[in-house]
Amino acid sequence: MSSNQLDKKSQAWSALFSEPMSELVQRYTASVGFDRRLWRADIAGSLAHAEMLAAQGIISAADHADIRRGMAQITQEIESGSFEWKLALEDVHLNIEARLTQLVGDAGKRLHTGRSRNDQVATDVRLWLRDEIDGLVALLGELQRALIDLAEKNAEVILPGFTHLQVAQPVSFGHHLLAYVEMFARDAERLGDVRRRTNRLPLGAAALAGTSYPLDRERVAKTLGMEGVCQNSLDAVSDRDFAIEFTAAASLCMVHVSRFSEELVLWMSQNFRFIDLADRFCTGSSIMPQKKNPDVPELARGKTGRVVGHLMGLLTLMKGQPLAYNKDNQEDKEPLFDTVDTLRDTLRIFAELVGGIVVKPEAMERAARRGYATATDLADYLVKKGLPFRDAHEVVAHAVKTALGRGVDLAELSLAELQGFHASIEADVAQALTLRGSLNARNVVGGTAPDQVRAQVARHRARLGA
Ligand code: ARG
Repeated sequence: MSSNQLDKKSQAWSALFSEPMSELVQRYTASVGFDRRLWRADIAGSLAHAEMLAAQGIISAADHADIRRGMAQITQEIESGSFEWKLALEDVHLNIEARLTQLVGDAGKRLHTGRSRNDQVATDVRLWLRDEIDGLVALLGELQRALIDLAEKNAEVILPGFTHLQVAQPVSFGHHLLAYVEMFARDAERLGDVRRRTNRLPLGAAALAGTSYPLDRERVAKTLGMEGVCQNSLDAVSDRDFAIEFTAAASLCMVHVSRFSEELVLWMSQNFRFIDLADRFCTGSSIMPQKKNPDVPELARGKTGRVVGHLMGLLTLMKGQPLAYNKDNQEDKEPLFDTVDTLRDTLRIFAELVGGIVVKPEAMERAARRGYATATDLADYLVKKGLPFRDAHEVVAHAVKTALGRGVDLAELSLAELQGFHASIEADVAQALTLRGSLNARNVVGGTAPDQVRAQVARHRARLGA
């Protein structure tokens, strides 16, 4: 087949076809509009394959040299933007191969020996995703570091902790932030697991059954920095579970970002005023001059829906496919690419945004006091005086009811009044009723005492090597 025959893709298959593809079908079936972003992986995979073909004596050293030279030029053309992508050549693979053949002739046509686009595309997506995962894990590290820095500064700052969005008990704001560090650390760990299963080589599976050429698959895997070769050719070309589990891990990570976003939005509202966000992450309103809207967290919350949607899309894409490769799989790319883009931008922006959080400790403390956040501490105090916990709970409920009726905090009730609820209450109750006393008392591993928060900060820093 001459290179200008390959240019007309409808004729590229063989003499079997008696009419050209319609323009609409060409547009419908082409993927070059989006899969061109795989070009670097495609060339890397081809070079590793060619190197092995030469080492195995399947192509000559001269052909291998021609292929290397051609690919170097193509790399330069794509990088400089002069490469001409053709819709008629369907996808990134055929575009690059056609140009290679145009540049170096027969050697270009020999590159595809022992290979199919089916194992080629599976290899490309895996290589591309592996490198993207590395970038995402690095960004998760940056986000964690930003949160850890803010947590350390706010270890002593008191926030009302909520359950059911009702004030529950005082917590250190630093402790609250470190909860997200735990989540993002697990996200990074999950991505690391996905990476291991992604980083295996399909090449050598060819179309579906393997190949009759004496390929050295392990050699190609090693050249590409992959951890091994896929052990079943049918599985190698047809499954996209690595893309699905990546998108699942990305969805979870976005869900974590989304929960954090929801809190930022709440905390910034007039009803809380716990924090402010740097202006560069907010917008104003075109009609209401007083508004400063937390657009970035809101958008992150919204974009979470789209990533979760991609996960559903990929699962659904896979579910009805018989073995082995089906063209359905071409539809794996856009959701996967968009997932990576969305997660990458979100993590990058949040790593910055966290540094722009202005904390308002007085507002947080006021809210904790107003919500009777130390009621549990009063109950615990009574338990220490010998009351069974259930009875103590009942006594404190009466005290809270009274305080609520008078619009005061528990700490504002006089000792005599408190003693009216139970005779065992003494002057030392004052300490139990302070927010700080409550905070310091929770000095157990994983608890909110500032000493624990600082210990966790140190542990996380050591873990991240920062
Ligand atoms: N563009 C195709 C894809 O993304 C490449 C594989 C095509 N293979 C085939 N037999 N048509 O899946």
